[in-house]
Amino acid sequence: MLSDSVELIEPPENSIMVGTGKGGVGKSTIAAHLAGHTAAQGKRTLLVCVTSQDDDDLGIKRFGRGIQPDGPSVVDGQGLYRSISERSPLMPIREVRPNLDVVPGGVAVGELVQLLMHRMMTEGVGVVLSLARSLAPLAPWYDQIVFDSAPENDSLEQLAAAAARYLVVPTRSDDSSISGMQRIARNFKAVRKQANPSLRVAGAFLYASNPTATSMHAEVKEDIREVLGNGTTIFSKVVGYREKPARNARKKGLLFAEYAELLPTSARSYDVAAGRAKVADVVPEAIIGLSGDMRDLNNEILLHCGRGD
Ligand SMILES: Nc1ncnc2c1ncn2[C@@H]1O[C@H](COP(=O)(O)OP(=O)(O)OP(=O)(O)O)[C@@H](O)[C@H]1O
Ligand SMILES: [Mg+2]
Repeated sequence: MLSDSVELIEPPENSIMVGTGKGGVGKSTIAAHLAGHTAAQGKRTLLVCVTSQDDDDLGIKRFGRGIQPDGPSVVDGQGLYRSISERSPLMPIREVRPNLDVVPGGVAVGELVQLLMHRMMTEGVGVVLSLARSLAPLAPWYDQIVFDSAPENDSLEQLAAAAARYLVVPTRSDDSSISGMQRIARNFKAVRKQANPSLRVAGAFLYASNPTATSMHAEVKEDIREVLGNGTTIFSKVVGYREKPARNARKKGLLFAEYAELLPTSARSYDVAAGRAKVADVVPEAIIGLSGDMRDLNNEILLHCGRGD
């Protein structure tokens, strides 16, 4: 299938894809937080959401965060779709946070699948580098690039993998999440062989699990290595399962660290009982642990992707 004319594109030095074959394991949460983390460190960061589900962790749609580029709307994946379809540079929403620009995902990203299939027939496998090509003119402006990816979709997973240097693989502990990793393992191999020889698996990790279940964690590590290979680095940080603060933060379009800052001035349960506040106004105390866990995970990811600072 590989045609001789495929012109390889060296992926940006500090580009990381968060990917795994299974849906709902935490990819978008992790990608948004990793991008927010490096931006808060003062690194010019770009988050590219190659997923048809836009969870809006950063409050772009719901709270109008960031500066939209001139021209037609880029939200709901429309900007990403247009850049690929017109073979033009990506058009990020700028300054969603200081130093953080975002190419949002959304429903239009799903439409890319057909476009890519169609082009594949006439242009061959080089089509998988479409995102890498649209990113290349912007890449030098950024210190860090993070890709969120789509679940259960080979074309979109390959599109992101062809543009990234590092892949990090989150998983939950259940069997279907573990076997879901087979998809990313397959796509990793295919992309590395045919389009992006620089791609590396920086590591895999268990996400959203009870931190005290250490014997179960050991079993999961074995499972991960069985799927991804014996030499796979497994990150030590396991972000705890904390549904309520994770859900509330996303609804408010806030990163965990930002949501945690609201805790000191938050309404309390007794305010709700007295009718002075709504349940939604109470910031759960567990946000502190969740925010700390996520910070540690982000630092570990960056360490293994060659950025220890
Ligand atoms: N530490 C956590 N504990 C509990 N729930 C969490 C945690 N982190 C994220 N979540 C929740 O898990 C759900 C799935 O997360 P997320 O959307 O990031 O996964 P995903 O892999 O991107 O999903 P999809 O495959 O649908 O794109 C969301 O409701 C999110 O709020
Ligand atoms: Mg997602």
